[in-house]
Amino acid sequence: MCGIIGKTGINNVVPELINGLKSLEYRGYDSSGIAVINNGKIGRFRASGKISELEKELEKYRPESEIGIGHTRWATHGSPTKENAHPHVSPNGKFALVHNGIIENAEEIKKTLLPPDREYSSKTDTEVAVHLLEKYYDGDPVKAIVSACKEIKGSYAFGILCEDFPNTLFAVASASPLVAVKGEKESYIASDLCAVREKADLVYRLTEGEICSIEHNEIKFFDSEGKEIEKSADKISVDAQDLDKGEYEHFMIKEIMQQPQAVRNTIESLVSKGKIILPEVSITKGFFKNEISEIVIVACGSAYHTGLVGKNVIEPLCKVPCNVHIASEFRYSEPLVNENTLAVFISQSGETADTLAALRLAKKCGAQVLSVVNVEGSAIAEESDNVIYTKAGREIAVATTKAYSAQLIALYALGIFIAKQRGKITSEQERNFVEEMKRLPQKIGETLELVNEDVKKLAKEIFQSPDIFYIGRLSDYATASEGSLKMKEITYINSQVYAAGELKHGTISLINEGTPVVAIASQCGIFSKTLSNMAEVSARGAKVIAVTDEELRGDVTDADEIITVKNTLKEFKSSLLVLPLQLLSYYTAKLRGCNIDKPKNLAKSVTVE
Ligand code: AGP
Repeated sequence: MCGIIGKTGINNVVPELINGLKSLEYRGYDSSGIAVINNGKIGRFRASGKISELEKELEKYRPESEIGIGHTRWATHGSPTKENAHPHVSPNGKFALVHNGIIENAEEIKKTLLPPDREYSSKTDTEVAVHLLEKYYDGDPVKAIVSACKEIKGSYAFGILCEDFPNTLFAVASASPLVAVKGEKESYIASDLCAVREKADLVYRLTEGEICSIEHNEIKFFDSEGKEIEKSADKISVDAQDLDKGEYEHFMIKEIMQQPQAVRNTIESLVSKGKIILPEVSITKGFFKNEISEIVIVACGSAYHTGLVGKNVIEPLCKVPCNVHIASEFRYSEPLVNENTLAVFISQSGETADTLAALRLAKKCGAQVLSVVNVEGSAIAEESDNVIYTKAGREIAVATTKAYSAQLIALYALGIFIAKQRGKITSEQERNFVEEMKRLPQKIGETLELVNEDVKKLAKEIFQSPDIFYIGRLSDYATASEGSLKMKEITYINSQVYAAGELKHGTISLINEGTPVVAIASQCGIFSKTLSNMAEVSARGAKVIAVTDEELRGDVTDADEIITVKNTLKEFKSSLLVLPLQLLSYYTAKLRGCNIDKPKNLAKSVTVE
């Protein structure tokens, strides 16, 4: 949430700040701003709305400077107005500051640490930080940052300018991501590597209150007490292809079409010689064989839906209870996890605040912790003792597609691996699973091609509907949940998901003539049960859209439309069934003229609770 960029160099930094903000816009896009130091004075430019609005503002003043900070905002405290946009400036004008995160005790700071008659120019939590800097400043900005941060509760990454140091950029981060990179004649800070990845080969990640002071040719690091420290850097790997839309109109459709590759790359990293290998998992075989008593899967949003699919694969295969939790609930519960629990945390970004907090809680309870993460070096990956990396590549559209598909592979692999360790499947069964898993990328590609035109047509029939329902049973319910989220997230249609058997306990009263009901029906043992639920809504006038596979298509009844995916093992069906649902949301959103890659009110990484 919220994007930060900062640069100090020997040329005008303003164009690069704007470019950096554009690449960070996916993190938040309701207002933006920059601050620079010009002739020894801080100048600030802000606008509400998209970065193009800020560009219009800059066009009026054409500021130039060799140092600056920028911010694109996803509002938490205070509406997305110009007054609430960052940077915020201290009352004496000496400091400008941008912030990603939440200051939980902002009101308390105002009451106890700042003068009672102090006036604030915004409704944000952030503004108190810049007031604290002014309060504690005695000529040493690092010391002021240390003192200010000691008072702050919550999460933060700050980029800071101080008028007395017109060539130095300051930054500090705790529980919010921030990177620093040093190029040849310029140095940068950013809340996400994507904004600066082409500027240098090495990246420094600030954690646990670390501070840096940056000049164009030198970066110094300090710990949270202000003591200078040596910091090691990570190598940056660039996949430039992921950063541009190429032939596609939107990142979302590009990423949908990239799924065969995302899945192939993930599979290749997890299988070898007909077996599942989990290279970055060091949990002992003995734990899986004798000690494990429960698997808990914890995540948010789509990653939670991956968990629901995972439960339906892992529990029957491994014969271990597997429960799935929403991270924002789990973190405040009193979970009965202990050293016999395998706690699995799923996150594309590896930054989601609730998932990270849940992970810390599970660790405290002594659970074996394993994360499924797409972004290497992210907080969740770093804090996990064991990681399965999904190899989806960089995902830019806010609505996840290829990372979701890669996560499914990671959970299938985990299920097969544990089942094998526990002697619940034979080597031959493992080989069969692996063989079929390796066929999935091709089947995904074929399914996308097979359903594309039908789904486009269907989108034209439903795009004006005010409501849509998704139903399914067991893993089909999990897939339906993902389809429904995708639909509401980018089309703003009121979309709801129900376990198919639950409809008649209330929801069926919402079904009217022509209400679209997407029914996922792919599980042989309960197929007829889902058909009955389709018949029930059809009898009440619903437009029933069945999503099934080639094997079951012929048996579908009571559907107005049937969308058919390729056949695969029952454990892997979700990987194919989700594809038409992603496409249906995409084409529906397009017909409704929605901002597909950046839906309103959302952000790609949710780093606040
Ligand atoms: C999915 O389309 C959403 N944008 C959202 O639900 C997302 O899956 C959720 O916020 C979790 O994010 P994470 O995977 O980065 O933790």
